[in-house]
Amino acid sequence: MLLLPLLVTLALPTARAFPEHLSTFLHKNIEGAGKCVSDSHNGHVHGEPESEMAAFFDVSQTRLAWPNTPQSDFDGVPSPPLEIQPLVVSGPSSNRVDLVFFSDGYLQEEREKFIQDATRLASDISSNQTFDTVKPLMNFWAAFTPSKESGVGVGGKPKDTAFGLYRPGTELRGVYYAKPEVAGAACSSLGDQCDYPILLGNDPLYGGLGGRFTVITPSLANGASILRHELGHSIIKVGEEYDGGEGYFGVNAHADLSTPVPWAHWLTNSTNVRVERSVMPMQDYAWALLNTTKPWSVTFESSGTFARHLVRFSVSGLPEAADLQVDLDGTDLGWVPRANIGLDRWHYNLYREGGLSGGPHTLTFTLLNGARVPAAQMCNAEILEFGDESEFVSTPGHYSLYPTFSFENVTTYRPTNEDCLMRLVTTPNFCKACLEGLWLKLLRDVTLIDTIDESCAPPASSGPTPTSTLTLRLVPLAQFRTSAVAGLDESYTVTWSKDGVVLPAWTNKTQVDAAPGTYAVDVKYTTTEVRVDPTNLLTAHMNYTVSESSCTRA
Ligand SMILES: *[C@@H]1O[C@H](CO)[C@@H](O)[C@H](O)[C@H]1NC(C)=O
Ligand SMILES: *[C@@H]1O[C@H](CO)[C@@H](O)[C@H](O)[C@H]1NC(C)=O
Ligand SMILES: *[C@@H]1O[C@H](CO)[C@@H](O)[C@H](O)[C@H]1NC(C)=O
Ligand SMILES: *[C@@H]1O[C@H](CO)[C@@H](O)[C@H](O)[C@H]1NC(C)=O
Ligand SMILES: *[C@@H]1O[C@H](CO)[C@@H](O)[C@H](O)[C@H]1NC(C)=O
Ligand SMILES: *[C@@H]1O[C@H](CO)[C@@H](O)[C@H](O)[C@H]1NC(C)=O
Ligand SMILES: [Zn+2]
Ligand SMILES: [Zn+2]
Repeated sequence: MLLLPLLVTLALPTARAFPEHLSTFLHKNIEGAGKCVSDSHNGHVHGEPESEMAAFFDVSQTRLAWPNTPQSDFDGVPSPPLEIQPLVVSGPSSNRVDLVFFSDGYLQEEREKFIQDATRLASDISSNQTFDTVKPLMNFWAAFTPSKESGVGVGGKPKDTAFGLYRPGTELRGVYYAKPEVAGAACSSLGDQCDYPILLGNDPLYGGLGGRFTVITPSLANGASILRHELGHSIIKVGEEYDGGEGYFGVNAHADLSTPVPWAHWLTNSTNVRVERSVMPMQDYAWALLNTTKPWSVTFESSGTFARHLVRFSVSGLPEAADLQVDLDGTDLGWVPRANIGLDRWHYNLYREGGLSGGPHTLTFTLLNGARVPAAQMCNAEILEFGDESEFVSTPGHYSLYPTFSFENVTTYRPTNEDCLMRLVTTPNFCKACLEGLWLKLLRDVTLIDTIDESCAPPASSGPTPTSTLTLRLVPLAQFRTSAVAGLDESYTVTWSKDGVVLPAWTNKTQVDAAPGTYAVDVKYTTTEVRVDPTNLLTAHMNYTVSESSCTRA
């Protein structure tokens, strides 16, 4: 609501111009793998362009490629040439949610690299995790356009590439696009084959952007993580679950404890609805470039009333354990980089049993290896304090009310401690509340019945009446999946009727021999991943008439 004026400005400019205020808006609303991408201009972190999403909620019950941008903004802008390649395809685009990777900064001779990068990312987020169970509702495509230069621009200057991707500086933060109108025309030219455009910039390191176009890189450590987090925002329409963000909304957020909990049906103990006890005494999105002259440090106060604490931070440009020392009150926390991280960025979580004493504490980042200047960077740091296990259940799989602290230290609540990729980008899966939201959102745009096909059955030897064979084509869930999902309990129930009378012999059949007449089929899908379906999105209905002449013998 608060951000509505921005919506208006976002919708007004023609995409050709890409005016400064739109650019500022995009800069402010940059997202990158959780809490680490922020706005350099005003010094505090920003999350998603949630204003865009709020608008999407408000104005659109149906899919649109660009929530706030009328199609006409792209009138007259030609699409670049696109070479489409299927990556993961489950059915017709008319009844699927289609994600398309568009290439930026890939030369003609790097076409194969683009296909490999897009294939790896699509496979990472759909083969055994994240979108695995909903994959039959989705298609993933690659759309190749050669660029004249390789890579993404730096220092705010795009290269000569298809969509003009660039980093504002050299830091591993946001990657922006200079040619939204070209990206818009590209997606638009694909019609219903492009619901969620993803601009894949040919750069090996961390970077991305959420919003109208999801921007990512094929970074081995971070590409898939940023992608799935951004798709969580853009598809499910949920906000952050991490601390220090700006937007907390949707099925994973609860602001007012006097109102019903959105995930009440997922609570582990619904007779004991409580807030898990924790506090965030410090967060700093410092984006400090480290040097060997002076360590970077921050001092904060603890109340001294908590049993446990966590030091959470992200750094980049620091490939070796000997490059950096992280101390809390002069004690070396024993930081070691993620294996093979190289110069890329990564998030670290140092959990510590025992409470912090009441009073001031100092967290210090000391660069030990001067050769890492100027890449070495402390992106952000945060301290969390927790009660003991009886006050704060840290066990995975526990659903309760966990406090989340915004960049202004406003408290909202999330469903789990750290089960969700909307909180912890290093986790590959959504929490159950988000996952249920994903099902319901996708099923707003996909009906469980793809079609009914009619063919002529061989005439019955005993009678003169020719019959038709009806084949009910369902979205390939449950027994129709091409590969079963371990641990997922799901089923289809199929009920046929003729002239309003149920045909019990046909229950659960997807192929029936039908005499002329009008049939109705009702399909209900059940999955343990959806507990509440208020608008019956997990059902489908279709009528079908077999005419007298359908299968008359020639
Ligand atoms: C999915 O596969 C990847 C790559 O093989 C593996 O690293 C990951 O642990 C798997 N995830 C699950 C949930 O099995
Ligand atoms: C739920 O909480 C109540 C109240 O604290 C407790 O008595 C009960 O044992 C809990 N149930 C479970 C299943 O943990
Ligand atoms: C946030 O607010 C809580 C409670 O008022 C306070 O204890 C904590 O220190 C604050 N954290 C920050 C980073 O301001
Ligand atoms: C070195 O880093 C410290 C801590 O971030 C900073 O205060 C100082 O200005 C930096 N010095 C130089 C020369 O960049
Ligand atoms: C139809 O399938 C559903 C789901 O597997 C099952 O619960 C039901 O018993 C089946 N009905 C018949 C008549 O087979
Ligand atoms: C199917 O036919 C019934 C009865 O004529 C009608 O009420 C219903 O709206 C029809 N459903 C569809 C999906 O056309
Ligand atoms: Zn986010
Ligand atoms: Zn979640």
